[in-house]
Amino acid sequence: MTAAQHVPDILSQEFAENPYPTYRALREDAPLAWHEPTQSYLISRYEDVARAFKDKESRLTTDNYAWQAEPVHGKTLLQMSGREHATRRALVAPAFRGNELREKVVPVIERNARELIDAFRHSGSVDLVGDFASHFPITVISDMFGLDRSGQEHISAWYRAFVAFIANLSGDPECAAAGERARAEFAAYMLPVIRSRRDHLGDDLLSALCTAEVDGVSMSDEDIKAFCSLLLTAGAETTDKAIAGLFANLLAHPGQLAFVRQDRGLVDRAFAETLRYSPPVHMIMRQAAADVPMSGGTIPAGATVTCLIGAANRDPARYEDPDRFDIFRNDLTATTAFSAAADHLAFALGRHFCVGALLAKAEVEIATNQLLDAMADIRPADGYDPAEQGVFTRGPKSLLVEFTPVADRQVPAG
Ligand code: HEM
Repeated sequence: MTAAQHVPDILSQEFAENPYPTYRALREDAPLAWHEPTQSYLISRYEDVARAFKDKESRLTTDNYAWQAEPVHGKTLLQMSGREHATRRALVAPAFRGNELREKVVPVIERNARELIDAFRHSGSVDLVGDFASHFPITVISDMFGLDRSGQEHISAWYRAFVAFIANLSGDPECAAAGERARAEFAAYMLPVIRSRRDHLGDDLLSALCTAEVDGVSMSDEDIKAFCSLLLTAGAETTDKAIAGLFANLLAHPGQLAFVRQDRGLVDRAFAETLRYSPPVHMIMRQAAADVPMSGGTIPAGATVTCLIGAANRDPARYEDPDRFDIFRNDLTATTAFSAAADHLAFALGRHFCVGALLAKAEVEIATNQLLDAMADIRPADGYDPAEQGVFTRGPKSLLVEFTPVADRQVPAG
């Protein structure tokens, strides 16, 4: 086991600026590292993190969400197991795949992308984070629930407070208090909406949850509120960072951007490689229910484990030249990248594999295509600084780009 003083600090400013040297050091020298401030064991090798997520012997539970997420969301899918988890997951899974996704959700995604792009398509410049990515997924999921647009700003503020609570590795009391305040405000907003929806059912996801039965019992208002709280948060924070990450990666590699622009069938590959190279979620925790052997030692029963997705996805034992962004790499399969057979770890694996992965894929694909159509010659603008922020979830702070507006280019000269 590695002594605490040798473990690079994942809470330092240096790590926040660039976590990858620390990830490398951990993978190479301390694959199982005790981290005193978070009271957890860090694991960083691909093989260990993948095994922790798959957890074939059910030795690593998601009980950590009882303290990490329940105080803001209430009890959710994330911390459930066995039959309870499977039945709850089955309630929402159909809305995020197959016909439901194609016929009901895709038009919502297309409309939301178009509306946001319309606001800047004639201007010739935009911050892809502030003006697009940070709004797009939350409007999509809010529309899926059939929520009124007037509550949008509040919903965005609440889900950001929830994410900050879940990512509060340093135990900042102000952040914890803000998360709990947001929980109370969200409940005060959402519970009357749920009660009223029960009386006026529609063809939306909230109505589906209102009428759903689990083992013959319908869900309480509190249960439904917790579900909404989780879906709004999990669906927005991540997809936002995925879209921004994809554009940051392509802008840094103009040759690959040109290939994607020319052959839109490559958008999936660009998204899959973005998930590997710059995952929106960098760490996920687990709780050991028994002693679990890992590279470098054994995680003792009762301990918390922090699975470093950002480190595992750059493990040279799994990916050739892992610090290279390459949409054509042949050690990442794009066709399975959005299913539980994925070979990157950005959506986790196993029973809690992201239930919204195909929704995220549809959102990223549609947004990328519409953005590329609107910005035929997209390029970094003055002040372009794609530096990433965030330790738990991570993505570019801003992406200032400029382009020649398409409509202007079509006006005949003279
Ligand atoms: C690129 C975008 C996304 C990424 C990187 C991502 C990442 C993840 C990860 C890492 C987990 C596993 C959590 C764990 O095992 O502890 C997860 C689970 C989950 N995600 Fe996503 N997610 C994305 C998009 C979405 C979307 C669009 C939704 C739906 C609106 C969603 C809803 C969920 C839910 C409900 C779970 C819990 C599943 C369960 O416990 O069975 N996610 N996601």
